[in-house]
Amino acid sequence: MIKQLEELEVNALQELEGISSIKELESWRVRHLGKKSELTGVLRGLASLSIEERKVVGARANEVKANLESSLRQKEQALHEAQLALATREAIDVTLPGRPFPMGRLHPITQTLHEICDIFSSMGFQVVEGPDVEWGYYNFEALNIPREHPARDDMSTSWIDFETESGERPMLLRTHTTSVTARVVETMEPPIRVIEPGRVYRYEATDATHVPMFHQIDGLAVDRGITMADLKGTLYEFARRFFGEDRKVRFRCDYFPFVEPGVEMAIECLVCGGKGCRLCGNSGWIEILGAGMTHPEVLRRGDIDPEVYTSFAFGIGIERLPMLRYGIDDIRLFFGSDLRFLRQF
Ligand code: DAH
Repeated sequence: MIKQLEELEVNALQELEGISSIKELESWRVRHLGKKSELTGVLRGLASLSIEERKVVGARANEVKANLESSLRQKEQALHEAQLALATREAIDVTLPGRPFPMGRLHPITQTLHEICDIFSSMGFQVVEGPDVEWGYYNFEALNIPREHPARDDMSTSWIDFETESGERPMLLRTHTTSVTARVVETMEPPIRVIEPGRVYRYEATDATHVPMFHQIDGLAVDRGITMADLKGTLYEFARRFFGEDRKVRFRCDYFPFVEPGVEMAIECLVCGGKGCRLCGNSGWIEILGAGMTHPEVLRRGDIDPEVYTSFAFGIGIERLPMLRYGIDDIRLFFGSDLRFLRQF
């Protein structure tokens, strides 16, 4: 009988090893541990043995039973784990929402440039660009600002560290986009209608209203019979579209060497509506651009005959516009790369 138990145990365990499903496991349990199993038969038969035999065979039979039962439990657990691993590997939940793609956006200054370009494009102006590193000639001389002219002092210039044989420094970082106007009159034939957006540079200390690099858009129209009325009409339309229908606009005399006469254009203060406040220095007006009738000397330098053609020009500082519109009081915020600021636009 001991031998029978031994064989039974070995067989059962061998069979168990080959099992790979819960269902097979259950039928294995019925076969080897169930009521009709050989083992149960042996246990039942103990009663007919002598006391001595019963002790030995009984102990062995119980041992085999315990062994088979614990092997069963182990196998059961192993099968469960395998099944779970398979389930998680296959789990692709197609109902999960996709991961949001971090969307970039245009910088508020770029947005403003685009908006202004759109307004002038719709009035027939074409966008042209010129170099940031410019010849002193196009930044100054060609614009009627000779070497000793005091107007140069208005524009603290970053000169490029490069000298000609005669010891002159002919290159600079352009101080205004009007340098592009000097190039356009040389290269294009009238009728001309262009706007010239870009970066400009001033050798200045940084504070809430000054940075060494900022943006401008210049504009130029050259044609027969262009008058100051064209200038005012064009800029008035721009202000209406950019700042709103009811915004009042004011022109006053100003001086720029490359225009004659020269004007500044101001709009009614956006904060106080003209009553006078801190933003507008109690005047009720905020200056937003310089303009004028292009100086005959500038046209002549570009081989355009000022007796035949007349022209108006204007220059707009970009940063001031969103600052006024959104009440931003520190220009440095535009260049600080702080996403909490930039994401608002
Ligand atoms: N370039 C001038 C500046 O930076 C602005 C300006 C004034 C441009 C009058 C113009 C103009 O084209 O006609 O201050």
